[in-house]
Amino acid sequence: MTVATLNRRAPTPADLTITPRDIRFGREDQTARWWLNGDPYQTAIYNALSATFPLGEANFIETVRAFRDHADERLAGEIKAFTTQEVIHSREHVAFNKRATDAGYDLGPLERCVEESLVELRAKPPIVGLMSTMCLEHFTAIIAHELLANSKHLKGADQATADMWRWHAVEEIEHKGVAYDTWLAVTKAMPRFKRWKLKGLMMLLVTKNFVKHLTDGALELLRQDGLTGRKVWWTLQWKLWGSPGIFRKVAGGWVKFFLPGFHPWNEDDRALIKGWEQTYPYLQVPPKKRVRGAV
Ligand SMILES: [Fe+2]
Ligand SMILES: [Fe+2]
Repeated sequence: MTVATLNRRAPTPADLTITPRDIRFGREDQTARWWLNGDPYQTAIYNALSATFPLGEANFIETVRAFRDHADERLAGEIKAFTTQEVIHSREHVAFNKRATDAGYDLGPLERCVEESLVELRAKPPIVGLMSTMCLEHFTAIIAHELLANSKHLKGADQATADMWRWHAVEEIEHKGVAYDTWLAVTKAMPRFKRWKLKGLMMLLVTKNFVKHLTDGALELLRQDGLTGRKVWWTLQWKLWGSPGIFRKVAGGWVKFFLPGFHPWNEDDRALIKGWEQTYPYLQVPPKKRVRGAV
């Protein structure tokens, strides 16, 4: 074990590599309107999530980079790699969102909802923005874990679109500790209980907004499909919380965020990344540049 490893404030693995993989998905394809197994509900859930990404991920970058002066050399390298990954994710979700638009959806109402939330967030002190990103990055990490671990979520999906979601999931797992470690660096002088209380309260607020916005966004897209009414609302709830039940499946990971001593890397799930690398032909086209923090 090196001195640098002993000095790490958090259990982010010393040999973690954060690699931006500059891959383009589905540029040649026309994506079917109901690209996920011909199911308007499942399609609406992932389309609603994707609609939030270009603006949301730009905000993640902004809020973490605002505190890069607090980072040591290694964390600074991780912030840089995280930024590069999120920029490429945004590019791919812009392209995917255009395909959803070409298939007939209007994502405008969903994007305006994100814009309004960001106006509110940016009016608050920058530390609130960092905390919001830290919580949302936990959401993306637990959803990413579930998408890679459980093939039923993307079963029957359009191939290029499923490939994009899995690629995004891989990189979300890789950089899941970056916003959290930045927050730990910024608040290192804060009493532990106060830290725990603040991040817990922020997670409750972020969860309320995340669940509401995703549900409302999916309902709006279903309305555009001509699907409205109580039965539609219940069917969507079943898809979210019952089967395949992405919200139910990540509930355990969500609860862990509130435990004392929580850190995103308390669970080292890099085996999922290795598994993806073995099935996706990415390794046949190695990245031009590999980025890792100094060990
Ligand atoms: Fe991302
Ligand atoms: Fe992320």
